[in-house]
Amino acid sequence: MNDKETSLDGAYQLLNDAILHYQGHPVGTIASADFKVAAENYGDCFIRDFVPSALVFLLDGQTDIVRNFLELTLNLRDQQEQLEGHQSLPKVMPASFKVFFDQYGKEQIRPDFGDKAIGRVAPVDAMMWWVILLYAYVKATGDIALAHQPKYKKGIQQILTIFLRDRFEVFPTLLVPDGCFMIDRRMGVYGHPLEIQSLFYGCLKASLFLLNNAEIENQDILQQSQKRLEQLTDYVRRYYWLDLARLNEIHRYETERFGDDNHNELNIYPESIPPWLSDWLPDEAGYLVGNIGPGRMDFRFFAFGNLLAIVFGLAEPEQAAQIMKVYDQRWPDLIGRMPVKISYPAIHGKEWHLLTGGDPKNRPWSYHNAGNWPTLLWAFNAAAKLSGREDLAEKATNIASHRLHQDNWPEYYDGKEGRLIGRRSNFRQVWSATGYILARKLLQNDQLLNLLKF
Ligand code: GLC
Repeated sequence: MNDKETSLDGAYQLLNDAILHYQGHPVGTIASADFKVAAENYGDCFIRDFVPSALVFLLDGQTDIVRNFLELTLNLRDQQEQLEGHQSLPKVMPASFKVFFDQYGKEQIRPDFGDKAIGRVAPVDAMMWWVILLYAYVKATGDIALAHQPKYKKGIQQILTIFLRDRFEVFPTLLVPDGCFMIDRRMGVYGHPLEIQSLFYGCLKASLFLLNNAEIENQDILQQSQKRLEQLTDYVRRYYWLDLARLNEIHRYETERFGDDNHNELNIYPESIPPWLSDWLPDEAGYLVGNIGPGRMDFRFFAFGNLLAIVFGLAEPEQAAQIMKVYDQRWPDLIGRMPVKISYPAIHGKEWHLLTGGDPKNRPWSYHNAGNWPTLLWAFNAAAKLSGREDLAEKATNIASHRLHQDNWPEYYDGKEGRLIGRRSNFRQVWSATGYILARKLLQNDQLLNLLKF
């Protein structure tokens, strides 16, 4: 067998070893099947980690496990305990759940709504991924009747209600705390991080499709979702977009201007442009910046947010093409020796200290602070294909084929170009393997793209 066949074989073996059962049925996959795992909860099934597993299962016709997962996680929402000082809970989805046997030998399930995880982070992305996965399931099976069951309809509407609730906000984007998505530690990603906005877009699109003709009482929620979707799309395409023309504009921005007739509405100070940016940004290319708020533009390049914006269609086709151009021209920085860099560049020194709280796991060029994450390869390939850059998808997949399996499926890699296995990385990380399987499938056909197309 060649590198590619051995890798694919190894990836499938790992996926099979990772399947989690509850009451005799397969219901998910654990995060890492490494038995010397670092954190206790890597034996849990994480909602976001299960997504690439689920997509593999859907493409391979093993749809039952996905359906079991959707059902189980929907039911788990009701197990959330009342927090002291809160009247009623919004019923979020858990970040993860564990299946275990108690002292009486009884099988139990323990969800983590962010009340157990390190740093007690609320998983805002879990609900969004759940709806998007339900959409992919319906596309794969044609089983729209599942989404129209009262329990599911109610679940989707409750999720929309949480996201569309009035807040102290004037923007159509979603305001969230630090670390509430794939980057689940303090990394200065509070506010309006791009990844959450891309997922929000996907979640609204998926919900509108699933609730269409579903006979729901609350028609208002559909109108509101549609309106928000339009505003969100315009806003992200306009304000998050950064290319050379826009950088020039920001570089010469007038600040402290009051009123309607003002191009610098968010009062971004030109002084906040980081020194690395003007030489780094290629000509005739651009990307969506990491975060935007009053007086704040986080110029870092966050891979998953950009890639999902392409996959779900939040980025315009021309923007998508330009994002892929950044990848092409900054390949060593954004792909390097292992696809795909999670964020670029790393934050250092005082900035690292202040934004992460001095987190040693997130030291420069490691883990969430510009480490390289193999799981992102599927989103990279999907985005590359959608923008007509199959050549980049092939090139990135070849890099992974040579190393990932041999290295025993690390969770992440360290270093500017991702040459080293992450210092505290798990091995046998399941979404590294499923990301690879999906990446390979994407090179063969468009089935996965069809499941996620809105
Ligand atoms: C890390 C990642 C998170 C993932 C979890 C399980 O905490 O940051 O995104 O869900 O590991 O793999």
